[in-house]
Amino acid sequence: MSASTAAKKKAAIRAVKHIENGMIIGLGSGTTVSFAIKHIGELIAADKLYDIYGVPTSIQTTFEAIKAKIPLTSLDEHPQLDLGIDGADQLDVKLNAIKGGGGALMREKIVAAACKEYILIADESKLTDVLGNGKVVPIEIHPFAVTPTLKSVEKLGAKVSLRQSSGKLGPLVTDNGNYIIDADFGPIQDPWWLNRELHAIPGIIETGMFLGYAHLAYVGGRGSVKRLKPQPDATLKKI
Ligand code: A5P
Repeated sequence: MSASTAAKKKAAIRAVKHIENGMIIGLGSGTTVSFAIKHIGELIAADKLYDIYGVPTSIQTTFEAIKAKIPLTSLDEHPQLDLGIDGADQLDVKLNAIKGGGGALMREKIVAAACKEYILIADESKLTDVLGNGKVVPIEIHPFAVTPTLKSVEKLGAKVSLRQSSGKLGPLVTDNGNYIIDADFGPIQDPWWLNRELHAIPGIIETGMFLGYAHLAYVGGRGSVKRLKPQPDATLKKI
């Protein structure tokens, strides 16, 4: 196992310690969350956790949760979730994040907004001083609006590309039947402003900017796992 994979696993296991019997859990998507899902499954199998239900944020996570024998439920049955655990493509000290590298951002954000407590898990390569520095912002768009949406996002200063599928010709189709634009804005000085501007564009369904959702993050490094709370006025160096 590589150092970064081991770091992801350690962060995931720390987050799972927050789960208590009877909780309804938002299950994020991605390779880091996969470790959390496997660990929850192990704890259920060992009778160390019970009466747990998960709300998955992607088809991939649904399959992983079924394999781990985690009972599933929906937001219609449980519109409020006790806890959410999700990965990130990039996060800053305010615990604002860029997500959607796996294309699951729309359901991930709906679940994030439904959680009483929302925990991000990542390896330390995901930490940044400024969101967007070396990372694109994934944006879910409606297939009817590809070219107008690309042009509008470009006008906001981004280099844009329509994400292509692998293993199939053509654009990547999300679990919701939509497409993904990857927008490279460079370092984003005001993510709240940018997110508002993006949401004002017809055809944009959701952005991968997760602002103000996370209450806590576990970030795995070579040695320990850092426990980070949002630090509104801090810079990365002060951690
Ligand atoms: C899925 O669309 C994403 O938001 C993931 O949560 C994010 O890309 C992190 O993925 P990894 O844990 O695989 O790095």
